[in-house]
Amino acid sequence: MNFLDRRQARAITHAMRAEVMEDLPELAQIGNEELRRKCVEVWCLALAESSFARVSDIPGESNPRQFALKRGDQATHLRGVTRIALSIADEFAAMDPAVRINRDLVIAGGLTHDVGKPWEFDAANRARWAGDPSATGLPSLRHPVYGAHLCIAAGLPEELAHIALAHSFEGEHLIRSLECLIVQRADHLWWSIAGGCGLLQPSSDAILEARKIVPRPLRG
Ligand SMILES: [Fe+2]
Repeated sequence: MNFLDRRQARAITHAMRAEVMEDLPELAQIGNEELRRKCVEVWCLALAESSFARVSDIPGESNPRQFALKRGDQATHLRGVTRIALSIADEFAAMDPAVRINRDLVIAGGLTHDVGKPWEFDAANRARWAGDPSATGLPSLRHPVYGAHLCIAAGLPEELAHIALAHSFEGEHLIRSLECLIVQRADHLWWSIAGGCGLLQPSSDAILEARKIVPRPLRG
């Protein structure tokens, strides 16, 4: 039986927090100071118990062995999704002043929606799950579920835990908040357009084909 407190978490240091800010500079756009601080903290929690030193060390993949960037890393993905989500939010807010979208939640949700990936991508976890899927499941918890756990553990608002949980298939079981809907669509769009631009590895072609997307060859 694998007790979840089995791993020695690395200490969370100021240097680790600074690296999270450095890898995800859009954190600075979160207006609410406590929300911004806890978004940094949740990434530190995720990294401290994983084998990844920083966000930019996590591979640029949607799920292990699914969509995978040719170049770039997880920070590339998180930042792109956040900026697209913010564009969507700002477009609709500008279209009609009666529209109410929480901009802070869109930015924070974009930057933390995949905070469960250090867990799901961790080599030790993957080796254990692959060793006997009949015992643990493969994976035992996907990154949206583990990400929601981390958000709650970090004391983030339930709106953020909801975005982490429901940005992917898990969200099909419930009604998504408006901010979650925006992040989920931005996330899905990001991988599709990256694929169409030829930015993903050939291993992604089968999933792109299912979405009726053909990669355009890159220049040069
Ligand atoms: Fe994502």
